[in-house]
Amino acid sequence: MIELKDINRHFKNGDQLNHILKDINFNVQEGEFVAIMGPSGSGKSTLINILGFIDRGYDGDYLFKGENFKKTSDNRLAEIRNKTVGFVFQNFKLIQNNTILENVSIPLVYAGVSSQERKERVRKKLNQVGLYDKEDQLPNKLSGGQQQRVAIARAVINKPEFIIADEPTGALDQKTSEDIINLFEDLNKELNTTIIVVTHEREVAEKADRIIHILDGRIQEEEVMK
Ligand SMILES: Nc1ncnc2c1ncn2[C@@H]1O[C@H](COP(=O)(O)OP(=O)(O)O)[C@@H](O)[C@H]1O
Ligand SMILES: [Mg+2]
Repeated sequence: MIELKDINRHFKNGDQLNHILKDINFNVQEGEFVAIMGPSGSGKSTLINILGFIDRGYDGDYLFKGENFKKTSDNRLAEIRNKTVGFVFQNFKLIQNNTILENVSIPLVYAGVSSQERKERVRKKLNQVGLYDKEDQLPNKLSGGQQQRVAIARAVINKPEFIIADEPTGALDQKTSEDIINLFEDLNKELNTTIIVVTHEREVAEKADRIIHILDGRIQEEEVMK
């Protein structure tokens, strides 16, 4: 589904050119659960910004289902991103003055789904993530783990082709982290959702099929878990 061929990414810093990603090659198959590990500053977020169609300033080829979006217009790319990728972040990124139901509905609003159908689908999804009674609450009334469940519900509500999670358990305690990673595992197994998760935590990464280790912008090692 995802093919990266000789990806290099440089960033300008004054008159310096910093080489951040170096000859990155890897593929992700449909239905795979892949973890990316590496120290802070090693290029993990830079890499997933490319995977998530946010950054196109790279050299090399990124093929998604055989297609290259390098020359696609920004508007069209935003559309593709909306229906293709679900994002989950360390700090949840929920809209604080929207209810839980409204937060999870957002991708469906963009997709033009009717209000009635949105409600039905969001309620079903909240039920799946164990938050069926929270739809009218505001995010700050929920615990960190519950807020991350809301963010995950929002990421998957429009059935994206894959999910990118950047340090999704970074702000959570150990027990809650376990719950969240189990939720990813369930989504991967039950709905066959393709998941790419960036994490510092070995216990989180070990739930994946494969761990890609990045050091200083380079893939150092691939570890097959299953
Ligand atoms: N937009 C940018 N402009 C300039 N430098 C950047 C940009 N994005 C990331 N970098 C640099 O790239 C390096 C890797 O960053 P990042 O991908 O965020 O690392 P990680 O997510 O592994 O902690 C860092 O040195 C960072 O300063
Ligand atoms: Mg990062």
